[in-house]
Amino acid sequence: MRNGLRMIGVTGVVALGIGLAGCASDGGSGSEGGSEGAAEDITVGVAMPTETSERWIADGEAVESQLEEAGYEVDLQFANDDIPTQQQQLDQMITNGADILIVASIDGTALATQLENAAGKGIPIIAYDRLINGTENVDFYVTFDNYTVGVQQAQSLLRGLGYLDENYEETGLDEEKIIEVFAGSPDDNNATFFYNGAMDTLKPFLDDGRLTIGSGQDDFDTVSTLRWDQATAQKRMEDLLTSTYDGGSKPLDGVLSPYDGISRGIITALDNAGYGATIEAGLPVVSGQDAEIASVKMIRDGVQYATIFKDTRKLATQAVAAASAYAEGEEPEANDTESYDNGLKVVPSFLLESDIVVSDNIGELLVDSGYWTEDEIEAGVAE
Ligand code: BGC
Repeated sequence: MRNGLRMIGVTGVVALGIGLAGCASDGGSGSEGGSEGAAEDITVGVAMPTETSERWIADGEAVESQLEEAGYEVDLQFANDDIPTQQQQLDQMITNGADILIVASIDGTALATQLENAAGKGIPIIAYDRLINGTENVDFYVTFDNYTVGVQQAQSLLRGLGYLDENYEETGLDEEKIIEVFAGSPDDNNATFFYNGAMDTLKPFLDDGRLTIGSGQDDFDTVSTLRWDQATAQKRMEDLLTSTYDGGSKPLDGVLSPYDGISRGIITALDNAGYGATIEAGLPVVSGQDAEIASVKMIRDGVQYATIFKDTRKLATQAVAAASAYAEGEEPEANDTESYDNGLKVVPSFLLESDIVVSDNIGELLVDSGYWTEDEIEAGVAE
């Protein structure tokens, strides 16, 4: 099946049924299984940003296997965090006849040409986890509640510092503590949501002086980390230790980190500077995101304080549901039609919930749900 699923134009999804009708009648009479038979003729192109982070490998695998289970052909590509590679992969998917695209972008603004081309061919475009900005040619968005993820990152930091209890209620502690702040990649729309959620949550503590950012560096551009890169974060932490903490001899209590890879870079710098190898031994409290296996082990070992668990299997399920809706000529079900303005349109979205992981609830959230096994956590490596 190589028909476009969508008519050209801003009405987008409305015309999908026409595409599907074409598709179903093309292969209809001879195919088994009614509407599921139609899925066999549909190819879904899945563009993922990188294989350097486990979460994206898990996302890719989950989307691929769930699409295949539903009967779709899948063209899955990872772009090595390189924008031209992702552009080429999308060009190739379109040339090869993808009928639907699921795209987790590297740079949320760099894909306009590819998406225009796709839209011209009537291909519905689903933004996966990261919003694609500055184009009309994005039909739907599946993600987590990214602002709340940022809130949770700050809450976990505040809990690690003793200001919040296990229910994330204030403990009444009024000691003064010193922190530093890191943000994600400035070209990823999510990074701003995480930063805003976190900074709004830290604000009362910064305002009344319980918290101070030692370096004074708090604006997004200064604290962001291009491509979420671990080495870049380690370097910035080392520079901060030199400029503000006398190489590591001045007190630093916590670091807000938006992603586990960044957390590990920060922790390496702190450990090398002599703060201690564990929180108990004096290592500052560091937050995270993604429940990457290396960080989950570090949380269990008392090295990293917390992470945010975003169940990529559930996100994959939503992406597949959206693709199936398009394949059936329907609109995917949104649960948020206000929050995600990409500069040209508010993109209808489906937002999932995330959870804070600390050492106490690793078993409940990550092992019982089948996300990681005990052996993997023990080893700190995915099987
Ligand atoms: C995702 C995060 C991830 C980050 C780095 C963001 O777009 O939402 O889950 O930590 O990219 O890969």
